[in-house]
Amino acid sequence: MHCSASLRNNYTMKNTLIAPSVLAADFGNLQRDIEMINNSEADWFHIDIMDGVFVPNISYGMPVLEAINRHAKKTIDVHLMIIDPDRYIKTFAELGANILSVHYEACTHLHRTLQAIKAEGMKAGVAINPHTNIDLLEDVIIDIDLVCIMSVNPGFGGQSFIENTYAKIEKLKALIIKKGATTIIEVDGGVTNKNAKQLVEAGADVLVAGSFVFKAENPTQTIHDLKKLTNF
Ligand code: DX5
Ligand code: ZN
Repeated sequence: MHCSASLRNNYTMKNTLIAPSVLAADFGNLQRDIEMINNSEADWFHIDIMDGVFVPNISYGMPVLEAINRHAKKTIDVHLMIIDPDRYIKTFAELGANILSVHYEACTHLHRTLQAIKAEGMKAGVAINPHTNIDLLEDVIIDIDLVCIMSVNPGFGGQSFIENTYAKIEKLKALIIKKGATTIIEVDGGVTNKNAKQLVEAGADVLVAGSFVFKAENPTQTIHDLKKLTNF
């Protein structure tokens, strides 16, 4: 029994998802870039919403998401980098978000916020900053559909990857198993073809990639290569 179970594990194909971050798209050609993702092997649209308070940068807001949603044909994964996100849960549901992630560091009543997200029919995600310890999720992991481990300090695209991320993924994976949760693990920031495979080996299920995809000479090919590299 034990032997066949371990054999099965060894030969199970990964189903790693790739989520290009629209923050790195060309906003003068937004529809073109959305269609590129639609026609690629990418799985989700990753949408970064920044308020200039929780993070030192302002990205884009509701009208832009509405425009993206008009053309996007894949899952919309919204990453809120804003204080007091409860104010906008309903709005993001109406704007077409399928997954809504709030920051652990921005929520006083995280459990309540997660229930409010689910009540609007969305999957509930929690993003954690590089300094935030995985152990802090222990009492709420069972209620979380997705944990987004930040592998850079949130606020900007194009930053370099923080190496401690691998250890955090492993620790989170162990917590998920220990608690019998079904949470999936997303990694966000500085993802490239240099770290993608190792992130999946550590336990990542979804890789967000902004600059690496959109600044590439051939973004569609780059998505294909990332998919191939991370599904083994
Ligand atoms: C950072 C954002 C990321 C960012 C990733 O605050 O949450 O989603 O767009 O961009 P890259 O892949 O360029 O680090
Ligand atoms: Zn993000």
